[in-house]
Amino acid sequence: MWLFCCQLLSCLFCGLDAKLVATAVIPHGDFAYDPGLLNNLTERAAAQRVHSASTKVGSLLKQVAPEVIFLTSPHGLELNNDFLLFENPLLSGSAPVGSDLGPEASTYDVAMSIHVDVNITQSLLARSRAAGRNVSGLQGFAGSQPLPISWGEVLPLSFLDGSGQTGPRHVTLDQRVVLLGIPYRRYKQDFNMVDELVDLGSDVGRFLEGLPERVAWVVSSDLAHTHRADGPYGFCPCAARFDAAVGSWAKSLSWAAMQEARREEQLGAASCGFTGLEMLHAALNATQEAKWTTSLLALEAPTYYGMAAAIMHPHSDSAVVLHV
Ligand SMILES: *[C@@H]1O[C@H](CO)[C@@H](O)[C@H](O)[C@H]1NC(C)=O
Ligand SMILES: *[C@@H]1O[C@H](CO)[C@@H](O)[C@H](O)[C@H]1NC(C)=O
Ligand SMILES: *[C@@H]1O[C@H](CO)[C@@H](O)[C@H](O)[C@H]1NC(C)=O
Repeated sequence: MWLFCCQLLSCLFCGLDAKLVATAVIPHGDFAYDPGLLNNLTERAAAQRVHSASTKVGSLLKQVAPEVIFLTSPHGLELNNDFLLFENPLLSGSAPVGSDLGPEASTYDVAMSIHVDVNITQSLLARSRAAGRNVSGLQGFAGSQPLPISWGEVLPLSFLDGSGQTGPRHVTLDQRVVLLGIPYRRYKQDFNMVDELVDLGSDVGRFLEGLPERVAWVVSSDLAHTHRADGPYGFCPCAARFDAAVGSWAKSLSWAAMQEARREEQLGAASCGFTGLEMLHAALNATQEAKWTTSLLALEAPTYYGMAAAIMHPHSDSAVVLHV
């Protein structure tokens, strides 16, 4: 049983130095968005805990009033080698919710349009290129039409309105977004990308920390996908261990816990969010002199894949006190 209470004390943002004001891990799995898709009551209750926790993380993020969301997504447009920054001013698309029940399942659409912070995106791109990182920018249609997004972006960001609404809808987002797509070489070798993820994550963290805007970093992430023999990716005993390691990391931000997650990922946990979690770990380590307060609000595997919802905020943001 999770009980949440939250207070926001003296929320006076004027005059505060802008910086990375919060970071969060939010799932993109269908069952986090809509637990009612599951008929099994135990599964549905677990999904409901993830849904409630994700909604809470979304409303806490809203309270720290970020102007910009930096989002890493493993399921948007993906290049083979490079991390991808989306340069069009608009992104738009929908998540087909229900497809996690299988290819035959009926689905409904959750749609979203996003305004990109093009200036920050291009500054980050220039900085990453200058540092020799594997990062490319993408422009489509001369910038005149939106680039496509789907479940990896829409579902986690849908929680930022704090409504906890399920079902078909069009979600609007108040904040501008900087979207980083993870390259698809991660599918086979994400556990070998750790040095690069740490370098890039630290770089991006320091860059965001230096911006005049208030920025929140969101990792779109589900956890291990090998919890069940009858699931699409089969069973690995490493799945439960991977999720436990991520849970332990989210409670402590311990590097040892993240390294344990890496070992379990290599054994076959098959987590789409692993790369984003590694980047976030490095960013947290590289900023705020490691003084982050972290809270894990849910960790569950209702079906074959695990999900977690967590939020981290800096001690030094003294005008904002989050009680989770
Ligand atoms: C664009 O971003 C750079 C660095 O991030 C900043 O110095 C500059 O003021 C920004 N320009 C605008 C128009 O926001
Ligand atoms: C870029 O990607 C390649 C793998 O394709 C890797 O060997 C190299 O270390 C990466 N570069 C950086 C700076 O991380
Ligand atoms: C964390 O930061 C410390 C000090 O800046 C650095 O020595 C260490 O290598 C970093 N670790 C990771 C995993 O980023």
